[in-house]
Amino acid sequence: MILVTGGAGFIGANFVLDWLAQSDEALLNLDKLSYAGNRENLASLTNDPRHLFVHGDIGDSELTDRLLAQYQPRAILNFAAESHVDRSIHGPEDFIQTNIVGTFHLLEAVRAYWNGLPDEARRGFRFLQVSTDEVYGSLSRDEPAFSETHRYEPNSPYSASKAASDHLVRAYHHTYGLPVLTTNCSNNYGPYHFPEKLIPLIIVNALAGKPLPIYGDGQQIRDWLYVKDHCSAIRRVLDAGRPGETYNIGGWNEKTNLDIVHTVCALLDEISPRADGKPYHEQIRYVTDRPGHDRRYAIDARKIERELGWKPAETFDTGIRKTVQWYLQNQDWVRHVQSGAYRDWVEKNYGERQP
Ligand code: NAD
Ligand code: TYD
Repeated sequence: MILVTGGAGFIGANFVLDWLAQSDEALLNLDKLSYAGNRENLASLTNDPRHLFVHGDIGDSELTDRLLAQYQPRAILNFAAESHVDRSIHGPEDFIQTNIVGTFHLLEAVRAYWNGLPDEARRGFRFLQVSTDEVYGSLSRDEPAFSETHRYEPNSPYSASKAASDHLVRAYHHTYGLPVLTTNCSNNYGPYHFPEKLIPLIIVNALAGKPLPIYGDGQQIRDWLYVKDHCSAIRRVLDAGRPGETYNIGGWNEKTNLDIVHTVCALLDEISPRADGKPYHEQIRYVTDRPGHDRRYAIDARKIERELGWKPAETFDTGIRKTVQWYLQNQDWVRHVQSGAYRDWVEKNYGERQP
């Protein structure tokens, strides 16, 4: 079996669902169920014996030691993290605890477990670290996209904590020989995306008649990838990636935030028009910028294509249409995640941003 951490979050849950749709290999899912973890994402697996869910923290060494000894996974995929830049600005401590200290404790447990495996299992074992392009920092408009050798230059507490965990993973390979793989992916979008991030926030606010907040001038650029393409890339790296190597994953799909918001608004105008017949883009509001806002991310995904033959299956047009349709068809899910804690966050993050 494989062990997935953070498998109740956005990308982790998509990965778990896709894995079990394509393989009969069992999967152990270790998740702390932070505000971003949601068992409803995995509701379709309730009676599936191939999915074992454990509610726990990657930083709990006693728990991870026991799980590794009991289930003997052949691979570990580390999705668990605090993942939202704006939250890391308001309160960095959770990011240090999970992304750095948690990953360290997990690596220690894995090192002890891996050392005790028989030779063949040791050779076949993999630890895959799911990371982000944000560790590379910010690009100007004309600079080439991030390659795997781009220097780490993280700018937010989130990206700095991910960079630190990537460095630990790298060190466990170089020092102890642990067979690790690291993937650095661009911004994901798709089903089960928590509506604190740009695309789901815009969809749910638009439908609720609320303002669509654009930080600063809206000309920041992100390189968007449909989440299921990220999952297929991770499966490919797990199968065929070379231990110790890093693979950048992206969709060759750079867009400004303003473009993204206009695209979502136009799709909603077509699929679910406003009752008053007016266009959704009338709800756009420019608000105070994010401190230290990275201007542009872009991924050079040639290595994974050349070495592992991976390419995204979705274009932005097909992926964003599926995403908007998913949110329209899953309004109960949206209602359930908009708890009191969610409303508190919205007040904290947007209450003080002046239009
Ligand atoms: P998410 O915030 O939606 O989910 C994170 C999951 O991790 C949640 O289920 C949460 O409960 C769990 N978790 C948090 N702390 C934990 C802990 N200490 N122990 C166990 N579980 C814990 O995040 P996501 O968007 O699904 O991102 C998953 C991974 O992919 C992260 O490592 C992130 O850095 C990386 N990543 C995300 C993106 C993106 O666009 N969302 C892009 C590239 C890489
Ligand atoms: P986000 O989805 O938080 O991802 P990241 O910061 O990890 O790239 O934000 C994507 C972009 O959208 C980023 O440039 C910030 C911007 N943004 C807004 O303009 N308004 C918002 O309300 C949010 C949440 C993000």
